[in-house]
Amino acid sequence: MKVNIIEKDIKKVDADFEIILVNSIEKLDDKEILENLGFEAKDEAVVVLPESKKIYVGYEENCYDAVAIAIAAAVKKLKATKFKSAKVSLAKFDVKALVEGSILGAYKFTKYKSEKKKEKKKELIICTDKLTKELQQRFDESTFIAKAVNKTRSMVNTTPADFYPAVMADMAKEIAKESELEVKIKGEEYLLENGMNAMLSVGRASIHESKLIHLSYKPKNAKKKVVLVGKGLTYDSGGLSLKPADYMVTMKSDKSGGSAVLGIMSAVAKLNLPIEIHGIVGAVENMIGGDAYKPDDVLVAKNGKTIEVRNTDAEGRLVLADCLCYAQDNIKDIDYIFDYATLTGACVVGLGEYTSGIMGHNQNLKTDVVSKALEAGEYASTLPFNRFLKKAIKSEIADICNIANTRYGGSITAGLFLENFIYEDNKDKWVHFDIAGPAFVEKEWGYNPYGASGAGVRMTLNFLQALVK
Ligand code: BES
Ligand code: ZN
Ligand code: ZN
Repeated sequence: MKVNIIEKDIKKVDADFEIILVNSIEKLDDKEILENLGFEAKDEAVVVLPESKKIYVGYEENCYDAVAIAIAAAVKKLKATKFKSAKVSLAKFDVKALVEGSILGAYKFTKYKSEKKKEKKKELIICTDKLTKELQQRFDESTFIAKAVNKTRSMVNTTPADFYPAVMADMAKEIAKESELEVKIKGEEYLLENGMNAMLSVGRASIHESKLIHLSYKPKNAKKKVVLVGKGLTYDSGGLSLKPADYMVTMKSDKSGGSAVLGIMSAVAKLNLPIEIHGIVGAVENMIGGDAYKPDDVLVAKNGKTIEVRNTDAEGRLVLADCLCYAQDNIKDIDYIFDYATLTGACVVGLGEYTSGIMGHNQNLKTDVVSKALEAGEYASTLPFNRFLKKAIKSEIADICNIANTRYGGSITAGLFLENFIYEDNKDKWVHFDIAGPAFVEKEWGYNPYGASGAGVRMTLNFLQALVK
């Protein structure tokens, strides 16, 4: 999908279709025909009038969600035809919702379809009567953001046979090349030498070598320093605490946090953000085998803390523990440290599949992150820590357990586990994003397709943009 913006009267713009977003059909010339077709100006309603070359879409409120969903529905209709282009009037809409809705809505993952439709690239022309510099900039930024989301989606959707830690590392190198970022890739030897025994253990039974990925973007005019850490489980079988068959399918999506971090890093230079940003990903495959780490093992993490393994399926937190330590040992004077992970099924149970769980110690920061997420078109909600759940991960034989001794509050106890690997100076700078719900959904939702959604990318880029505004 190619999206353009031009300063021109829409009537004079040449396109195969005109897309019209409506919240009422009362004053429309096509009122009668729309009524006869049963069209109502409601969210997700769409109708094509082939004769007059119009696509009508409903929206109930002029907000990001409704507008993005509406334009996505229209663009999907265009994609289903043999026609190539459509035009839409910017009118009173936010260009961000139109651009992101159309690029995200047009995304389709076809890598594994043997019969590739030879689709011509479709074009959407946004028409405005005044194309200011600010509007052009917002348009450009929205395009970069939407492309970063789609990049993330494709990484996540790629199968574990085609996307294992070394492939993820190659992807990082590619992104680094494209955006002139620094890139460091560390293998298992490095993990061993640097006491990253928790991460190392998780990947031990895999035939694929674990990789620690570190991308950095260091603009000369940096005003802040932000570190993003992602869980990159290219496959999570559960390990010896093996997942039941039904729960194992979709676990290629367990690299969503790491993929979001890579997606974000692919956009930061294009967005020209005056922020030093580090993207760190623990790319690991959790498998079974004679060499697998076991329930009962005690692992020593990079900061010296000992972890009693009671369930090898709670592996993401082990990988993140070492990656968080790596980040803080190697990067000083951090302003913010965020981690992204499909960490717990409990988060999906608690918040539903569309919403990310936001955890941490800094109330204001969490509130800000949630509001930046909602503004960017992602759903997020805070989950509160408390002193009693903190006790639930105590261990009789080591410093902590990798699972809690209670069935309840699983996302929060996972967050509290990670807190053990956040150094004192950084406690108030840390936010944990549990994206297990929205990262991968097995049905279409709004402008999101079946499968990966790219959760985390838009909210973080919006947070970063606002940080330096
Ligand atoms: N990757 C899973 C969490 C997950 C579940 C992500 C569903 C997406 C959808 C994680 O590694 C895991 O298995 N967590 C366990 C933790 C438990 C053993 C304490 C879980 O949530 O069941
Ligand atoms: Zn797991
Ligand atoms: Zn996992």
